[in-house]
Amino acid sequence: MSSGIDSREWYKSAVFYQIWVRSFADGNHDGIGDLYGVYDKLEYIKSLGATAIWFNPLYPSPNADFGYDISDYCNIHPDFGDLEQFKKVLDKAHELGMKVIMDLVINHTSDEHPWFIESKKGKDNPYSDYYLWRDEPNNWDSLFEGEAWEYVPERGQYYLHLFAKKQPDLNMDNPKVREEVKKILRFWLDMGVDGFREDVINFISKREGLPNGIGFLPVIGSMMHYKDGPHIHEYLKEFREVCDEYGAVQIGEGPMTTARSALKYLSGDTKSMDMMFSFDHMMADCLFTEYMHRPFKLIKLKKALSKWQDKLNDKAWNSLYMENHDHPRVVSRYGSRKFHRESGCAIAAAYLFLKGTPFIYQGQEIGMTNIKLRSIDHYVDISSKNNYNKYNLNKDEATRLKRIHVSSRDSARTPMQWDDSENAGFTDAKPWFYVNNNYKEINVKKQEGEDGSILNFYRECIKLRQSNETLIFGDYYEYEKANPYVYMYTRTYGNEAFIIICSFAGESIPFILPKAFRGVRTRLMITNYADKRNKGEILTLPHSGLILYPYEALVLRAKTYTHKV
Ligand code: GLC
Ligand code: CA
Repeated sequence: MSSGIDSREWYKSAVFYQIWVRSFADGNHDGIGDLYGVYDKLEYIKSLGATAIWFNPLYPSPNADFGYDISDYCNIHPDFGDLEQFKKVLDKAHELGMKVIMDLVINHTSDEHPWFIESKKGKDNPYSDYYLWRDEPNNWDSLFEGEAWEYVPERGQYYLHLFAKKQPDLNMDNPKVREEVKKILRFWLDMGVDGFREDVINFISKREGLPNGIGFLPVIGSMMHYKDGPHIHEYLKEFREVCDEYGAVQIGEGPMTTARSALKYLSGDTKSMDMMFSFDHMMADCLFTEYMHRPFKLIKLKKALSKWQDKLNDKAWNSLYMENHDHPRVVSRYGSRKFHRESGCAIAAAYLFLKGTPFIYQGQEIGMTNIKLRSIDHYVDISSKNNYNKYNLNKDEATRLKRIHVSSRDSARTPMQWDDSENAGFTDAKPWFYVNNNYKEINVKKQEGEDGSILNFYRECIKLRQSNETLIFGDYYEYEKANPYVYMYTRTYGNEAFIIICSFAGESIPFILPKAFRGVRTRLMITNYADKRNKGEILTLPHSGLILYPYEALVLRAKTYTHKV
């Protein structure tokens, strides 16, 4: 147990792989991904260079929100296996040198959790105050399903649900609820897990009296009353104390978190988290893609990434991601179908060398793409269905469906494409959800065998990153900020610099280097154009500039570079 507070610093040099288990690998032939499948794929995850795994919720759940509606915090969903199988996975991951973190979802439970089943019976049972009950609702909107309040005739009151109706919000002001959370933390930490990713953690403390929201958009207008709420840091401090005993890492998910508010979670007296997930860069194609899709703008992406790099610098540690289970696939958003391989690599290089800890979401490493299902009835994600029924109601069916195609979380949740056999090698039974029909072209097996594939590119980048402290701890500077096609940044330490240049243009473009780099002697460490450039070659950066190929990514190393501002 107690390995001391600083032992958790391992996360700074870690690379995480995120597993949404239902779609990862089916090990017991029922069409649903599970922990038997994960067990067999641990060597694959390790082969990427990953040193840690984050599991999306593995707990029993009625699946109104695929695991984010938990009915038992201290068990494993029977679809995925059991506690014994989880322990096997955990032990094997540890043997392979990988840490494991769980998803902690404590803003809400399932309405089928025994606490809620008791609580809704009336005002005089021990669980009565575990949730937020009111005689009259306020004007808040839920994020997933209409108004944020649902009436329960049995109790004669309404309960709050910031997400789906089947996700009642816990009352964190009740000390008993906080004790329950600590028990859950200890349960998993005693078993040996290494930390938690904490779901919508900035929502758990609501303003006293739950006042009406103001403003034009009910969701945003009410958020001010529960985002970064009045007791948030107090409560998180209690949980931090438990994690401190075990040296467990804590990573907060905070929708709409600004860098400024993130710093409160990450530093100073109120520090309760080791990292926070930022959402700003998800706006590069508009965060609200459900109802307002905008073309991808590299400048927005660069600005958001740099903002977090700069604001957290030397104060806190960044988490880096391009994909997760909540966003459509990144190649479909920021990349190109024509230059699938090249753009998948450029996206990787654009974020894997930033300062912070990278997270790779299953399938991202092979450039999996969005699915386009023919009807909304084929989608299963509650927020996609809700968005379809809420936005663009005056538009025609094709337009409404197109919005779902570009925004649906289901695109991130199609079965992992392992090979070109039936069902992409995900299962030999009927898969629980649609396999993307491009699995014959895009799959792990094919990319294993190809030099320069997205998969092998990820491996190369991670290997380089892990082998050099400059890439982990070095300073970050962005160049050519106004260039709409090229993302250029350096990581520097002492006289050493890594120069990362990623083009997001779908054609060859000239790129004049900033003055400070002209004539600098470098070595080409990484390229996604191995046929056109020589990896390992000494390259004196030309005064005349470079021609960058479509979605070209270059990582150069200069040993005698001094940063000039
Ligand atoms: C987080 C999760 C998301 C879930 C929501 C409600 O945003 O990432 O998948 O639906 O919280 O728990
Ligand atoms: Ca299964």
